[in-house]
Amino acid sequence: MKTNDWFKDWFNTPYYHILYKDRNDIDAQLFMRNITAFLKLCKTTHILDLPCGKGRHSVFLNNLGYTVTGLDLSENSIQFAKQFENETLRFNEHDMRKPFHKKYNAIFNLFTSFGYFDDDQEDILILQNIKNGLQTNGVFVFDFLNAVKIKANLVTKETKVVDGISFKITRAIKDNFITKNISFFADGKQHNFTERVKYLDLEKMTVYLEKVGFTVTNVFGDYNLNSFDEKTANRLIIVAN
Ligand SMILES: C[S@@+](CC[C@H](N)C(=O)[O-])C[C@H]1O[C@@H](n2cnc3c(N)ncnc32)[C@H](O)[C@@H]1O
Repeated sequence: MKTNDWFKDWFNTPYYHILYKDRNDIDAQLFMRNITAFLKLCKTTHILDLPCGKGRHSVFLNNLGYTVTGLDLSENSIQFAKQFENETLRFNEHDMRKPFHKKYNAIFNLFTSFGYFDDDQEDILILQNIKNGLQTNGVFVFDFLNAVKIKANLVTKETKVVDGISFKITRAIKDNFITKNISFFADGKQHNFTERVKYLDLEKMTVYLEKVGFTVTNVFGDYNLNSFDEKTANRLIIVAN
């Protein structure tokens, strides 16, 4: 495994889910309700939730009446999500750098699930797979952090106590990556993980998307779909087709 393949380990641990448990279903459901209404997706739509984690968006989208496939690299997350499967909701392990076996009406990449790789070509490969994995007139929804706001307000040190675990977090922006070091003591030992996400702003993402044939149609700044202002927006949400 390459040293920078941090995402394979960290997202597969229970600690990732503990640290982010406040990013809860309420946010996920609000966003899914708003975006599906905005896109006027009819109930025959087949949505690919890529990557789906433990399936919080997939399950809710399926409850809204859509056929949903959730794919993720994390074996543990997919095993967990499989308990929710039904005829119109499926979960499978898949590396998003590999092409998909089917075509979808909509593909959602949610909650900063992009920009993990050193080589820009790998990020672009994922977008190419997404473009190829869409039916004609299919739509792509991309939900990422707002790098500009994060840089301007960088909290370099923080301690978060969740479920009795004291997570010591340090953040930095270096070599075009936003890095977050997370260290904590749990289950009898010390753990250290690093999240590394590429510094991608709207301009750079637009270039990436256009490279693989997408056109950006809408840009929003939060889960209520307010317009994007790079100084104040909490999220960078792009709709492309
Ligand atoms: C920040 S989490 C978000 C997951 C989910 N979208 C959510 O909102 O709960 C990022 C996810 O990306 C997955 N992931 C990382 N690299 C991947 C890859 N190359 N292919 C597929 N999934 C990957 C991780 O396992 C993790 O579940």
